[in-house]
Amino acid sequence: MNVLSLFDGIGVAYLALKRAGIKVDKYYASEIDLNAIKVAMANHPDIIQVGDVTLLKSSALAPIDLLIGGSPCTNLSSMGKQEGLQGQHSKLFYEYVRLLNETKPRYFLLENVASMRNEEREKISALMGVEPIMINSSLVSAQCRKRLYWTNIPGVCLPEDKNIKFQDIVSGGFVDRERSHAILTNQLPQTEVGLNRYLFKCTGQIVFKDRFFAELDKEIKAERFKNMKKLSLLDAEKNKAFKNGVFRNITIHEAEALQTLPKNYTAGIALSNRFRALGNSFTCDVIAGILREALN
Ligand SMILES: C[S@@+](CC[C@H](N)C(=O)[O-])C[C@H]1O[C@@H](n2cnc3c(N)ncnc32)[C@H](O)[C@@H]1O
Repeated sequence: MNVLSLFDGIGVAYLALKRAGIKVDKYYASEIDLNAIKVAMANHPDIIQVGDVTLLKSSALAPIDLLIGGSPCTNLSSMGKQEGLQGQHSKLFYEYVRLLNETKPRYFLLENVASMRNEEREKISALMGVEPIMINSSLVSAQCRKRLYWTNIPGVCLPEDKNIKFQDIVSGGFVDRERSHAILTNQLPQTEVGLNRYLFKCTGQIVFKDRFFAELDKEIKAERFKNMKKLSLLDAEKNKAFKNGVFRNITIHEAEALQTLPKNYTAGIALSNRFRALGNSFTCDVIAGILREALN
């Protein structure tokens, strides 16, 4: 089949197609981030990059069988100001609608954050002509990541719970929850404020060196973090690989595993860009599970 992947990022949709066993003839990717494109091309050299979605002419493409994409969530997510679909980034959703109308694919799949306001969700559903299904990536990975999926692929339902625990995928150390918080585009700022957001607002993710610390109540942890600030132990360098003796950020390989990607899938670009790309990306096995239905 011919695939048009909008907002393609690091090409996780292509990996999902491969995992689902779907034969791809042409895979067109619309993406503008050069780091993301580098990762996508390193993993899937036959991708045809078609650039900025706003300039994309459907007449230049072969007939499309599957349109796939997760349009930018920046103005929809509860992590932002929620300007909605008129927001500078999230308005690109209308480009998805334009290309859906122009290419008339047999199948479409659109992904976005579950934390958007109901009003925005209803606007999207009206334009897509279907209601979304909410899937938490925690069913197929060790990460809590609630996303909405609008699709006309028949028979899509929740994946079976693979029961993958966060503790199972960390390489050294202890975690204080069964599933990680959703991966963010930036790592957790290692400041007292950042750590409190982790504890009380479920933002970012850290790994503790000792089980006893991981098992402390949130309030006691917050108190300890306050003391660490006084002792100047909260600078990023000291937190690398447990140098402060207490906690560390997740590693890039842990982040890749949380998105069900192979180790080093994002290699070849700067570390901060690897984390950013993973924070933006699909959870591969969720997409593969949905696409498998297209084969039946
Ligand atoms: C939420 S991310 C989607 C990531 C992708 N689903 C993946 O698995 O890697 C949105 C993507 O849209 C891209 N983007 C933003 N503006 C764009 C434009 N005008 N044309 C094409 N892509 C754009 C961003 O660079 C970003 O990679």
